[in-house]
This record gives sequence, structure tokens and C-alpha cells, in this order.
Amino acid sequence: MILIHNGTVVTARETISADVLIDGECIKEVRHGIPRDSAETVIDATGLYVMPGGIDVHTHLDMPFGGTTSSDDFETGTRAAAFGGTTTIVDFAIQARGTRMRDALDTWWKKAEGKACIDYGLHMIVTDLGNCGLEDMDELVDEGVASFKLFMAYPNVLMVDDATIFKSLARTAKNGALICMHAENGSVIDVLIARALAEGKTAPVYHALTRPPLMEAEAVHRAIAMAEIAGAPVYIVHLSSELALNQVREARDRGVPAFAETCPQYLLLSIEELERPNFEGAKYVFTPPLRPKQNLPKLWGGLKQDHLQVISTDHCPFCFEDQKVLGKDDFTKIPNGGPGIENRLQLIYHYGVNESKLTLNRFVELTSTSPAKIFGMYPKKGEIAEGSDADIVLWDPQASHIITAKTHHMRVDYSMFEGYEVQGNARTVLSRGKVIVDAGNFLGKPGRGNYLKRTARGGAWK
Ligand code: URP
Ligand code: ZN
Ligand code: ZN
Repeated sequence: MILIHNGTVVTARETISADVLIDGECIKEVRHGIPRDSAETVIDATGLYVMPGGIDVHTHLDMPFGGTTSSDDFETGTRAAAFGGTTTIVDFAIQARGTRMRDALDTWWKKAEGKACIDYGLHMIVTDLGNCGLEDMDELVDEGVASFKLFMAYPNVLMVDDATIFKSLARTAKNGALICMHAENGSVIDVLIARALAEGKTAPVYHALTRPPLMEAEAVHRAIAMAEIAGAPVYIVHLSSELALNQVREARDRGVPAFAETCPQYLLLSIEELERPNFEGAKYVFTPPLRPKQNLPKLWGGLKQDHLQVISTDHCPFCFEDQKVLGKDDFTKIPNGGPGIENRLQLIYHYGVNESKLTLNRFVELTSTSPAKIFGMYPKKGEIAEGSDADIVLWDPQASHIITAKTHHMRVDYSMFEGYEVQGNARTVLSRGKVIVDAGNFLGKPGRGNYLKRTARGGAWK
């Protein structure tokens, strides 16, 4: 047994002075005054917050994209996540067109096998319903794939038409899964891209200028409208702009079960990053793109007021030197994605909690408890309570840290937040009762992370 002694337990609900007793992989007891001799190992948590481990429900490890593969695999990516206090991820398997979803699930299980250092779930990216896609979705739900991502962008690659989206939504109204939507109007964006290229506009910034916020808002509106008619909930991934946020807020105000996440990059960075000289703007090429600065406070406000429920990373790293460079003469060839799995809690704690934009409890809710609930992992994950997995981060609110590619653990040669100085960092991280990070040292093991069978909600959304 392990006793976490004398810490401050912080959950989405409350902040209390309490000890946490761990028996094997689970939490046995949470209360003030558990005797020190209850456990063989005592971890002194004086001055530390004892929080549920972070849950990042949007990562792309070992993902083929744009003629290359994201640079972190399940080993390097989940180790980096652990250093940052994240103890669970949900990654994306991709159905190849014309194949069964089951094949993609097997492929992604193999990618993770023997590598994952923390527990992981999988969403399925649906590219093609074919003859048996809807039955495949039911089968996947039985395997714990309780959510599916559909793309309204990237025509001829990942985009599906509205009929496919509507049929998928209607299926989830029955099987209880959740549709996650990449909401951008890909057809219009493709015309804008073709126009830009014809005018010789090939620099990274045109990636952002050809994907206007209105095309995100239009797609969010359409996705929610289709979900409403299908009688299903919908979750908008990587929401980036005020206009898109307004659509979610308006729907939620009417009682529609629409949910949305945003990511640290949309809260902290803006479109100017794409104008960095020497092609360095390519480091910030991902979709949806970074927006003008005035969007940032609106997104923070959305988090505070529960118009947005989750902060994920959309971690999808590509090295600058040999991957981003593929688009040197044409922004459409820059692999889309940026790294962030390691720094989510540091950034949101520093800019959210320290700057009083979020309470400590809302911070835990947005980064752990709410993703666990929405994606069928709660209360096993995302909670500090008897019976929950002992996925725990001991957070030092005084620790200062400079984010830099020189010391980060992600397998990528740059940081989107290079030189940012943050206060507040994970000191000790436990995954199912085992200390996997302590004082900057990795003590975990590749392959110890388990696949998480998640539960579909059976329509219990409101
Ligand atoms: O640019 C991005 N976001 N790359 C990852 C794929 C996606 O759309 O989430
Ligand atoms: Zn996406
Ligand atoms: Zn993504």
C-alpha cells in the first residue's frame, strides 16, 4: 500500500486537506488523518496538490498524415505525457477507405502494444460507411471504442459527406457512442486554397488565411443541426474561434447536448506565429489554424462558463527539419499538426489558474474529470475517490519551469511554447498505483499502459 500524506486533494468538486491510501492499482480511502503506518510506502505531499491524473482525449501518436508519420509513437508520446502529469490519453485509429473499422482497431492496438506507458483509449476515425459501417460502429462500441471522429474537412482524404455524418449520428443515438466532429467546411476551403496557390501565395500563413473562422462556424452549426435532427449528442474537436464558440453556446442554451474542446495553442497563440521568418511559421501549421488575437479571451471565457467542457492538446508532432520542410514551397504540403502532449497542464495551470481565469477545481474538471465523463471513463478515471484508479498527479504549485525543446521529452525538434516560463508543475505522477515520474525522473515502463474499454453513454446526455 502507498499513503499520500498531508497533501491538498483537489477534484472538480472540492479542495480538501486529506490523505490518500492506495491499495494496488486503486484508491482505497480518502480522508484526513489516515495513520502513516497504514502503508509500507509514504509519500509526503506537504505543499502539493493531489489531483486526478490529466486526461488528454485528443492525441495522434504514430499517425500517418500528409505523406509522413507523426514523430511521437506510443512510447515516446505517452512518456512525455506522463512527465506533464497526464495519465490517460485517447488516440485516434483511422479506418482506411474500403476496409473494416475492426482492421484499423487491430492496427492501432499493435502500434500501442508493448509501448504505451500510460493507459490509453481509442476513438475511430470513420472515412467510409460502405455496406457494413454502421454495424462496424456497434461492434466497436462493444470493444470499448465509445466515440468516432468524422471530418468535414480534407476532401478526398478524410472528409465524409453530410449523409455519412447524419447516418453515423443517427446510429450513435441508438448505440450511445459520441460523434467527434472536425468542423471546417472542407469544400469551400479547398477552393480558397486553389485560389491562393494560383496567385502564388505559398507561405505558411496562407494555411490560416484560407481556413477562415466563418468556415469553422458554418461547419459547427451544420454538425449541431444534423445531431439535433438525429437525436444524438455531438462533440466538436479543437474549437478555435469565437464564431464557432457562439454556435456551441447558442445550441447549449437551447438544451442541445453539444460539447466542445479547445486546446492550449488556441488559448495562447495567434495567427502572427505563422508569419515567423525562415519558414518557422510552419511550426504553427495545424487545423483549424491559429486565429486573430481577439479570439483568445473569448475561448477562456467559454471555458469558465462551460460553453467549452474540455481542454485537450491535438498533439500531432512533426519535426521541423525533416517533416515540416516538405511544404517549403507550398503550404498545402506542410504536415498539419503541432506538439503539446507534455505541456498542457503546465500551460493551463499557469495561464488559467495563476492568472485567475479558471479556478483550481475548474482546471481539474477541464483537464481530467469532464473528459473522463464525456468519454466513458468516469469514475475509474478523472476522480480521487474510493475505487477509482490510482492515477494521481502530485502538483507543485511553486515549481517554476521553462518550456523548451532542449529538455522536453516529446520526440520533436521544436516547441510551440519555446521559452515560456510557467509556475506549477507535476512533481510525482502515479499510474494505477505505480509511481511513473518523480522529480523529473521516469520510473515507468513501456507496455504497462493498458487499453481502456470505454463505456458508451446510452443516450444519457442531458
Ligand atoms: O492539424 C491537425 N489538427 N492535425 C491532426 C489531425 C486533426 O485534424 O486533428
Ligand atoms: Zn481534426
Ligand atoms: Zn486531431
